[in-house]
Order: sequence, then structure tokens, then C-alpha cells
Amino acid sequence: MIDLHSHILYGLDDGSPDIETSIKMAKIAVEEGITEMVATPHFIPVDKEINKETIIERVNQLNEIFLQNEINLTLYPGEEVFLSLDIPRLLDEEKILTLFNQKKYILIELPMMSLPKYTSEILWAVKLRKITPIIAHPERNKEIAKNINKLVDFLKIGALVQVNSLSLLGVFGSEVKKTAERIIALNYAQFIGTDCHTPRARSPRIKKLEKAISPALLNTLTVDNPLKVKQNEEIKIEVKDLEQKKMGLLKRFSVFLNSLKEARVEE
Ligand SMILES: [Fe+2]
Repeated sequence: MIDLHSHILYGLDDGSPDIETSIKMAKIAVEEGITEMVATPHFIPVDKEINKETIIERVNQLNEIFLQNEINLTLYPGEEVFLSLDIPRLLDEEKILTLFNQKKYILIELPMMSLPKYTSEILWAVKLRKITPIIAHPERNKEIAKNINKLVDFLKIGALVQVNSLSLLGVFGSEVKKTAERIIALNYAQFIGTDCHTPRARSPRIKKLEKAISPALLNTLTVDNPLKVKQNEEIKIEVKDLEQKKMGLLKRFSVFLNSLKEARVEE
């Protein structure tokens, strides 16, 4: 498996605090079947901007340590960029890291409690730069949990969706778990990542999902699609299907309206 979302780099954010912890996390990831992982420390525009060279250096250092310790995990550079109006400028100035540092996909984190009005605008601006935004754990956003159609709007713009394995395993509570399951069931997600922060409660666990998700779908979300990101390939999603789902609802609504009209005529 290739994990596109992790906080395994030490000393940069609320993830691993030191090398020993990063090693412990890497060992768990390997046990879980993860062989490649993009390190995505939090980047908060203006408030907490990490120098991208620091991330690349730390990725190289940990890869060296994993090699010496015979830990079969390769790290790649990336960032989890918090949604902000500054994102287009930061991309133009090459201040933020895309996944695999390849300028093709970027991991974007939404606020937890709200969906700013400019969310779509920023996703469009990223797409215009020929970079595909991947929305990190939308199941943790309260507005999306309330109304899943808000996520469909982002998919229509061309954004993709990454769900956390730990959300599906219930680590963030039953509401988040339910929303995550719904996103997967509706086929709105293209990736499952661990978003690991520690070797304990928020460790890189993913294997247990084998019980909940079909092997073919799990393979698409954790192997095939992440590999496409690594290889700079496009991931096509069937937005048509999403439209059709909406049309289905509209159709059902018009049938319902017609039945009301007919009932009135009969009266
Ligand atoms: Fe994260």
C-alpha cells in the first residue's frame, strides 16, 4: 500500500516528536502492509509555514535510517496544506510542497467546523494551475457531515477525496465513522490514507479495513490510485454518475409531484 497522508516526520508539527517515534511508526506501517508513504506535515499559510527544504532533508534522513534498520518503508515529501486564500500565491511562489513534490497533486485540509465560502474558488485556482487538489479527511468536516452534496460540488470541480483509515475504524467517534462509511459507499473517495500522528491511538493502521471493505475497492483506494498519483497519472472519476444520482433524486421528486397533481385531479 501507498499511504498519501502521514505525520511521520519528527519535530515539525503535532505528529512524531523524535526519530525514535518516527521509527516506531514506520515499523507499524510495514506490519500493516504499507511500503511507501508520503510525509505530509501540516502547512498553515502565514501562521505556520514550514520550509520545504527541511521536509525534503528530513525525508532523506529517515529513509537512510530505515535502510540501516532494515525497515522496508520509503518516504516521499509532501505537505497537508490548510485551506487558505494564500494557496494560489504560495503555489506560484513554489513555497508549498505537492505530493511526491511533483506538482501534480496537492493535499488540502479543510477547517473542521466550517466550509469557507471561498473553498470552491481555491479548488478552481489550484485546478487552473494543472494541479489536482485532494481533500484530506472530509468526513471530519461538520458541514460535509451535515450535507454530503457539498462534497459532490468539490468533486465536480475536479478535486479528489482522501478518507482516513482511522475515521473508518472509529477513532474519531461514531459520527465521523458514519460519514466516512457513507463517503466510501457512495464512491466519493479515491484514496484511504492513515493520517498517522503517533505509534499509539493515531498509528498508521489500515489492515483491519479488510473486514469492512471489499478487497477490490480497498486495493483501488490504497494501491492503484495512490500509485497513479506517484506516477503522475490522471485519476478519472465518474462525475456523470454523481449527476445521475442527483437526476435520480430529481426524477423521483418529479414523479412525487406528478402523483400529487394526479391525486388533486381525482379529488
Ligand atoms: Fe493530517
